[in-house]
Amino acid sequence: MGLDKVGFVAGGVGTCSFTGSAGSLTVATERRCQSNLQMTIAPEQKILRTPVPGLTVNSDGNVWVPQRARPRRNRKTEGMRSLVRENSVGPQNLVYPLFVHTKDYNEEIESMPGCERHSVDSVMNEVKFAHSLGVNQFILFPKIPEELKSNTADECYNPDGLVPQLVSRLKHSFPGISVWTDVALDPYSDQGHDGIVSSDNRGDGGKGRILNDETIEQLCRQSVCQARAGSDVLGPSDMMDGRVGAIRDALDAEGFTDVSICSYTAKYASAFYGPFRDALDSAPRESSNAPQNKKTYQMDPANSRESLVEAANDVLEGADMLMVKPGMPYLDIIRLLKDNTDLPIAAYHVSGEYAMLKAAAMNGWLDEKTAVLEALLCFKRAGADAILTYYSRQAAIWMNE
Ligand code: PBG
Repeated sequence: MGLDKVGFVAGGVGTCSFTGSAGSLTVATERRCQSNLQMTIAPEQKILRTPVPGLTVNSDGNVWVPQRARPRRNRKTEGMRSLVRENSVGPQNLVYPLFVHTKDYNEEIESMPGCERHSVDSVMNEVKFAHSLGVNQFILFPKIPEELKSNTADECYNPDGLVPQLVSRLKHSFPGISVWTDVALDPYSDQGHDGIVSSDNRGDGGKGRILNDETIEQLCRQSVCQARAGSDVLGPSDMMDGRVGAIRDALDAEGFTDVSICSYTAKYASAFYGPFRDALDSAPRESSNAPQNKKTYQMDPANSRESLVEAANDVLEGADMLMVKPGMPYLDIIRLLKDNTDLPIAAYHVSGEYAMLKAAAMNGWLDEKTAVLEALLCFKRAGADAILTYYSRQAAIWMNE
């Protein structure tokens, strides 16, 4: 049986010509073959289809796209892939955010299936379980009863309040963990803002301004209160100018030189915080004298260079870690800060990102485990050292499998 149709001219690297007769062909290429080759092809290797014009064949008569570098060789087995793998993520990289309230039972959070507002006892159990899986970092977010909220948010530094009480219980029961606490007024604010709302109508917006320095005074009280309770890492998430330095001084003046500050350095005014605000009922209020958004203090999602200004300030003010928030839509900012500063970088995989993954998984549209572990790994690749994620518990289970 003769070859149906052979004979084509390959462009580029080599030129081959074929003279086909049953079972043999001649291959001549300018570069790849020094001389004409005369070969016999076993019947089963015969080219049965018409070669694609422009492609060449090797000395065996098989199609050959001439190239020396073939990156797939480093992916050919799991052994080879694991040999050359650049990044990995484990439970030790995770910071587990937990919502806590004053009730003695748990409540589901509608927009965050799988997350709950925990009772204090439930937080203790959750920490114990996650810690047994290798998660060592926990950050607390309180839902404060409405009657304790005010514009100046004074409940935030009540030593008998929900957060300080829980911090000391956690530190007492689990000496091996680090407890992180959020520094900002919003859970305690009857305005739903991270700072104190001015009662006058000055300012460009014509509506209540968020007072920077007066807010910082409260944040310092809150920070010292949390440090006294035993908090290991403070996370100022408020975005007031100069708060990191002021908090550092207030802590140091009381002897808390070992308490760390993970600054929310590049925190954007993002729609991805929606489910979090549902969880804590902390969204800016319509009744507030201030705008119903946080754009005068959180960053514009259109900007990246501004994050370098924030980072430079935080470094000078004594921050120990720099956080980028949200996470997945802002991987470029993580990389930017990683390349331009020398401090560890934290990424906040925020509530809306959790909700997106969860919703797709619940609909059967994404394979949850693979997608979540990929997302977390990508934070590492982008330059994050620590990842705050509501998936911490589940991811640690998967990572331990
Ligand atoms: C507020 C704060 C927010 C989050 C953490 N701290 C919301 C906001 O700025 O309104 C959001 C976290 C998340 O969405 O998971 N200090």
